[in-house]
Amino acid sequence: MNNRYVQNGLIAIAAISLFACNNASQQTASPDSTNLPQAATESVTACVSYLNKKSFEDTIDGKATSLYVLKNNNGACVAITNYGGRIVSIVVPDKNGKPTDVAVGFKTVKEYQGPGDAYFGALVGRVGNRIAKGKFTLDGKEYTLATNNGPNSLHGGKKGFSAVVWDATQPNDSTLSLTYVSKDGEEGYPGTLTSNVTYTLGADNAIRINYKATTDKKTVVNLTNHTYFNLNGEGSGTILNHLVQIGADKYTPVDATLIPTGKLDPVTGTPFDFTKPTAIGSRIDTAKNIQLKNGGGYDHNFVLRNAGPALHPAAEVTGDQSGIVMNVLTTEPGMQFYIGNFMSGKNSFKSGAKDDYRTAFCMETQHFPDAPNQKNFPSIVLEPGKEYTSTTIYKFAVKK
Ligand code: GAL
Repeated sequence: MNNRYVQNGLIAIAAISLFACNNASQQTASPDSTNLPQAATESVTACVSYLNKKSFEDTIDGKATSLYVLKNNNGACVAITNYGGRIVSIVVPDKNGKPTDVAVGFKTVKEYQGPGDAYFGALVGRVGNRIAKGKFTLDGKEYTLATNNGPNSLHGGKKGFSAVVWDATQPNDSTLSLTYVSKDGEEGYPGTLTSNVTYTLGADNAIRINYKATTDKKTVVNLTNHTYFNLNGEGSGTILNHLVQIGADKYTPVDATLIPTGKLDPVTGTPFDFTKPTAIGSRIDTAKNIQLKNGGGYDHNFVLRNAGPALHPAAEVTGDQSGIVMNVLTTEPGMQFYIGNFMSGKNSFKSGAKDDYRTAFCMETQHFPDAPNQKNFPSIVLEPGKEYTSTTIYKFAVKK
């Protein structure tokens, strides 16, 4: 056991819960998951000892890819590749101080380009989630996007921002700045869009993601991050026993192709009520619930309470075995809560674990899906001369 982590785990316990009403204390079962090797051999850092930087060094579309590591003095580190701006690993101490990798991902940049990729850890854009039938209209002109998800366009199209190489600069140990210029007409979207995303790891074990974008023509933009979390550690099995609280009294129901109906429905009395900490799987088998049927489980946008330009709490999740607590804060009005319903055990992750069904979840902060076609949803239109900005924080602590 590394004493540094024990000590830091104790410090992290003092972290303040964002949902003051959540007093849930965890049982003390010892986590048996995600044993990060302690010996750093060819590792990028002792913190992520099973990652080898060389496995991320490649040239894709004429641009160099690599692996960048952010670290702090509080037992946390984050590994990110500039291929798709993807978070590969997030290592934080669990309730016993044991370093635990809570992000699911691959060991090599090649695997991120393979058929098994499901946007693991990725920056998603130009528009996150679905656009119905791959069509939308701006100023009377109809734009057609590639349809890559049944009848719809998903996560930016055939080659969205998750599949491009971002220009990276790492000014210090805790910050990575990524820039990508998307050409006018790329994937069918109008306007040259320059996006900049900064990942910062704070001393408080918070990962802050700042998004910015500008355009030279009116366009639509809705950026997010698609990290798959398992707070008991990658490869530790189901996430259905994680406790989740979401700061939302409403959600946006969907049709069978996961396009919102346009309604904002109350969560009260439904399996979508996460206003109090609730195990993810406690109401999942409600075969009678048409929304769970449409989503194949939770795969829905939650309408965040108190949304405004300032940061507001979106969610708090607790790993039932690890005691690791993740708080999500965002400036966005919505959050897609997805629980790995499409994970099918075909891929092997960093730890060697398979991507089995519902062994990770995503909390994608964003504007609502299909916003360009839904007049009652907050707009995602960006005009030239204006700047798109968005911030999301994933903050880690422990509960004993
Ligand atoms: C989510 C989306 C899911 C699925 C997943 C990737 O953002 O809501 O339906 O497409 O990405 O597999």
